[in-house]
Amino acid sequence: MLGDAVFYGDVLATGGLDDRLTRGRVLRRAQELMADAVHAEHTFFSTCGSSLSVKAAMLAVAGPHEKLLIGRDAHKSVVSRLILPGIEPVWVEPSWDARLHLAHPPSAEEFERAFAAHPDAKGALITSPTPYGASADLRAVAEVCHRRSAPLIVDEAWGAHLPFHPDLPSWAMDAGADICVTSIHKMGSGLEQGSVFHLRGDLVPPKLLGMRADLLATTSPSALIFAGLDGWRRQMALRGRELMGGALELAAEVRAAVEEIDGMHVNDREDFCGPGRAHGFDPLPVVIDLDGLGVTGFQAADWLREHRSVVAHLTDHRRIGMQVTHGDDRETAGELLAALKDLARAAPGLDPAPRVEVSSPAGLRMPQVALPRDAFFGPAEDVPLDRAAGRVAAEMITPYPPGIPAVLPGERLAEPVLRYLRSGLDAGMYLPDPSDPALRTIRVVAGSGG
Ligand SMILES: Cc1ncc(COP(=O)(O)O)c(C=O)c1O
Repeated sequence: MLGDAVFYGDVLATGGLDDRLTRGRVLRRAQELMADAVHAEHTFFSTCGSSLSVKAAMLAVAGPHEKLLIGRDAHKSVVSRLILPGIEPVWVEPSWDARLHLAHPPSAEEFERAFAAHPDAKGALITSPTPYGASADLRAVAEVCHRRSAPLIVDEAWGAHLPFHPDLPSWAMDAGADICVTSIHKMGSGLEQGSVFHLRGDLVPPKLLGMRADLLATTSPSALIFAGLDGWRRQMALRGRELMGGALELAAEVRAAVEEIDGMHVNDREDFCGPGRAHGFDPLPVVIDLDGLGVTGFQAADWLREHRSVVAHLTDHRRIGMQVTHGDDRETAGELLAALKDLARAAPGLDPAPRVEVSSPAGLRMPQVALPRDAFFGPAEDVPLDRAAGRVAAEMITPYPPGIPAVLPGERLAEPVLRYLRSGLDAGMYLPDPSDPALRTIRVVAGSGG
């Protein structure tokens, strides 16, 4: 069913791609070339997605019961790395936009405040750019960390393309970060699960990072995924600027054309950037606000997939995100625009948008009263949703995409978050991780106060 080629290419990494003792240095050379292409000193390939890369990076910086400063808008893969070794998170507040109901990366001042309150923190982790394309002032955050000789990890899962064009937001390795993690399968053109992490400077020894990554990695990596990473590096090293330049031009045209469609508004730099909001902006994720169309992002994404075979990379209660890449051209952009115009025409005939109860930013933040590991592994019980407020969560609950947990193990549950999740689920939100996917019950720490 899959054809021959995929199996012929699926060779063993050791004893196939290279000889028994890896004397050809095939993987090493590919990693060195990648490091050179993206201004890193060391690069590590992973065939287990950035979900593994980010865990390896965290393990290299903080161990059991050590503190790590983390932007609260972190992806769920970060949280699982808190649960397993028992790292203590010190949450750093993102820049919340209450009007757009969006979180942008935390500012350098927030990291400064967090370090002042927790001078024993071993380092910091920030997500930039976000899946919406908002980016942090990485240079300033790195400076805050380095004043204390603490390493900065950047979860740059959405930033594989950033090193290759000056009009894109700054790339973590250029901005002074110590480790950055990137999914090549997201904004690059590797195969699914292809991810890399890069290292610079002397705060994290490369051997240590390699050893910690080895704890997590598979011993049977896919040579096809490695080849996808290497092929992407070659394409970008030779033609990155031209290809990214083309994608940026196309994205600008698509953005202007979508803005003309009645009821749609494309989030642009003015929406995202400014004091108290994001520092920079990546125009390739075309994030479309559908508030004026009276449909949710969930309804719009379902309609586009079912009726026009167009897939949104991001959906939330009021937006969809369409990803323009260097693989697009006028034809694919034309198909997207035709599909969006059809959606605008069909919208009045869709069911009225179910209301998702999104609270104020303050209402969405719940106190972390226990270590994620203790809450996750300790005695737990399932309680009905309407009796969960005040109890301490023993599980993670994550609207997907974008994959930022609304509830973490160890957080004291509050009504506004429970209402958001309940109304979101009724409106079509996807929650892949709770123990009861219908959210009739929530798993909480046994005996926690209610
Ligand atoms: C910010 C962020 N970090 C990490 C990941 C995990 O990446 P991967 O899917 O490559 O495992 C994702 C996935 O969506 C993400 O959005």
